Order: sequence, then C-alpha cells, then structure tokens
Amino acid sequence: MKIGIVVGSHRRDSQSRKVALYLEQQLQSLNAETWLHDLAHDPLPLWDENLGSGEVPWAFLPGLVEQLQSSDGFVIVSPEWHGMATSAVKNFFLLCNVQSGLAHKPALITAVSGGDGGAYVVSELRTSSYKNNRLCYIPEQLVVRNVGKVFNADSAENDPEAHTYFVDRAGYSLKLLLAYSEALGALRGGGVVDLEGYPNGM
Ligand SMILES: Cc1cc2nc3c(=O)[nH]c(=O)nc-3n(C[C@H](O)[C@H](O)[C@H](O)COP(=O)(O)O)c2cc1C
Repeated sequence: MKIGIVVGSHRRDSQSRKVALYLEQQLQSLNAETWLHDLAHDPLPLWDENLGSGEVPWAFLPGLVEQLQSSDGFVIVSPEWHGMATSAVKNFFLLCNVQSGLAHKPALITAVSGGDGGAYVVSELRTSSYKNNRLCYIPEQLVVRNVGKVFNADSAENDPEAHTYFVDRAGYSLKLLLAYSEALGALRGGGVVDLEGYPNGM
C-alpha cells in the first residue's frame, strides 16, 4: 500500500509541511509506503499548452505521473490562504488529467490554519479539483486549526488537549484512508471504470 502526500504551502518551512511529515510518519508506522511532494520545495510550473511535450519545463512530468500512478491513495495538505486553497495546489490539479494516476483513488483532505480557519479549503477542494482527474475524497477530513500548538516535535510547544485530540483524529483518519485505498483498488480492477470512454467529467 502506497500513499502519496502533496503539500500545498508555498512556504518552504511551512506548518503544512510539519503536519504532512507527521502524517507520513504515522502512515509508515501503519506499514504504508509513502511518497511526499512538497510544492514549496519542488514547485510545479504553471499549466501551459506544452504540458505533455516532454520539453523543458515539462520534462519532470513522467516521473511525477509514475509516482501518482503507483500510489493507492493520497493525502492533500493545504493551508487556508485568503480563504482559499493555495494556487500551488490548484495548479497541481490543473496538471493532472484522467491518465495521471488519481482516478478512483481515495484522498484525505488536510486543511491547515494558524487560527480558527481551514474550512474553506475543504469546501473548495470538494467543489473543484477532482472533476477530470476523478480523485475520490473520503468523507472524513482533517482541519488542523491553531496548527502552531499541535504536532510539534517539542512537546512543550503543544497544547496538550488539542494535540491529543488531533493525534487521535489523525490516526483514525489515516486508518480510514488505508481501508478506502484497499477497497477502491478492487473497484478499479472490477471492469466498470472506463477512463477512455469518458476522459472528462461532466
Ligand atoms: C498569504 C496568506 C494568507 C493567509 N490567509 C489565511 C486565511 O484565510 N485563513 C486562515 O485561517 N489562515 C490564513 N493564513 C495563515 C495560515 O493559516 C498560516 O500561515 C498557517 O501556518 C498555514 O500556512 P503554512 O502551511 O504556510 O504555514 C494566511 C497566511 C498567508 C501567508
């Protein structure tokens, strides 16, 4: 079982990366293989018409698609910025078509906020981001509010009550994601999915 993690902050030392690294560690402790793409460390070019050409700046794309295709499920981590998911995350989805390896695979949305926000990320990703690539967001989600006070390696920086709550909630969400990853593998192999007949969603 392999889970791909996409980190959507544009900041290299982001709280989203902190959360993603924690989730990656937990997935590994649940015997999942992981792959992590931090869009601040490895930014993707904005979509243009040469996307598929294999030419600069798109030569990296087959490697990225290989990682997506070999993953069974995903965690999409995005901070809430100006009440939105980041443009890096939205561009990632713009680059992913139905053949990119997301189709009919489960994903756990993980929204991150320094305060009491985060819900707009959930709303936005569930509204727009999956139509053509056919990613399946599971009904559980993580909204990591007041992120500065949880998931810190130095326990003195954590709010004990909030940290314990999020550790438990994250553990539950990840176990659910792995169960969906197992289940949707059977669906993809079941002969019903027709990505060539219906390349774009309605
Ligand atoms: C440009 C920008 C806009 C932001 N807008 C919001 C917002 O709308 N809602 C919110 O809860 N936090 C907002 N924040 C604060 C983030 O929640 C905070 O930076 C948090 O650490 C997550 O971002 P990070 O993963 O880049 O660290 C914003 C931060 C930046 C840099």
